[in-house]
Amino acid sequence: MELLEQADISMINTLALPSKARLLIDTYTVEELTEVSKKYSLLAEDILILGGGSNLVLPAFLDRIVIRYLGQSIRYQETDTGELLVSVDAGVVWDELVNKLVNKGLRGIENLSLIPGTVGAAPVQNIGAYGVELADVLESVEVFNIEKQITEILSKKQCEFSYRDSLFKQNPNKYFILNVCLKVSAKRDFSLSYGELQSLNRNSDLSVHQVREKVISLRQAKLPDPKKLPNTGSFFKNPVVTAEQAIKLKAKFPEIVAYPQAGGRVKLAAGWMIDQSGWKGVRSGNVGMHSKQALVLVNYAHATQIEVLSFAAKIQSSILEKFNVVLEIEPVVIKT
Ligand code: EPU
Repeated sequence: MELLEQADISMINTLALPSKARLLIDTYTVEELTEVSKKYSLLAEDILILGGGSNLVLPAFLDRIVIRYLGQSIRYQETDTGELLVSVDAGVVWDELVNKLVNKGLRGIENLSLIPGTVGAAPVQNIGAYGVELADVLESVEVFNIEKQITEILSKKQCEFSYRDSLFKQNPNKYFILNVCLKVSAKRDFSLSYGELQSLNRNSDLSVHQVREKVISLRQAKLPDPKKLPNTGSFFKNPVVTAEQAIKLKAKFPEIVAYPQAGGRVKLAAGWMIDQSGWKGVRSGNVGMHSKQALVLVNYAHATQIEVLSFAAKIQSSILEKFNVVLEIEPVVIKT
């Protein structure tokens, strides 16, 4: 276990916002985590559970105990049906896991290649890309319940996953994610319904490596590398509106990008709306919307949370004015 007071956490958030925490504690085993929990009588509102910091908007000073669980083990267990259950500790870097499984010829998470962050953070926002969400392959999540001070295994259903949302996102810092169990297989069908992956369908010898390589090239063409240009990926969620509102919008903006959802609602491409409103590539002081993907807010240098949020508010009011649609911020905003 490692403890650091007044810890500089500017390097552990991919938006690179300058931030200090009252105390940073790194734990490596469940026993250490239990010990910390007892010693500091942790309450959800006094802590911040940190993974890779790739989905956070941090304040200059965080008057909380920031805790990381850095367990690294990966265990495999074959099922009766020839699939594989992979139990992965929260501290493993997500894309290293994807790479490992792809190298074993295992299918299931190749579309989620190159997503920044750790395995433990993945269920919080139910990471998703190119037609696949974590929930599609997840079996269960092992957590340390801070209130009850016990470890629990939550089934997929109990995790209450939906688009970029989960039980964990709805109850911040209540569940410490320890381990995520995924079901993968050497045989399952690829998910190639997303526009730019459809061309792969024509290749009957398609390998899981090729799908990963294609996803990586798509991401690298549009999404800035947080190490070079700090960002949190999509800064806004794609808004989901009623069918009635979607019809009105389509009449006014025939080119609007809209995806019908189960249950009749319609998801709109926020990136398209931001782009159409003239924000793509626009810089304001230290922040801006990326020139290749208008949904990604970037920190050019030394931005603060205040600057990020006031720029985001300008985008939100511009979209509300033009489209009458409310844009919700996708990363977790921590105020104090
Ligand atoms: N579009 C524009 N201009 C832009 C950006 C997008 O016109 O500047 C249009 C595109 O041409 C396309 C549509 O909007 O018709 C959707 O764009 P894209 O396919 O790039 O995906 P997205 O909806 O903007 C979502 C996820 C991404 C994920 C991609 C691919 C959310 C909030 N974002 O973006 O996830 O990689 O789909 O599946 O759901 C993330 O969550 O951080 C993230 C990067």
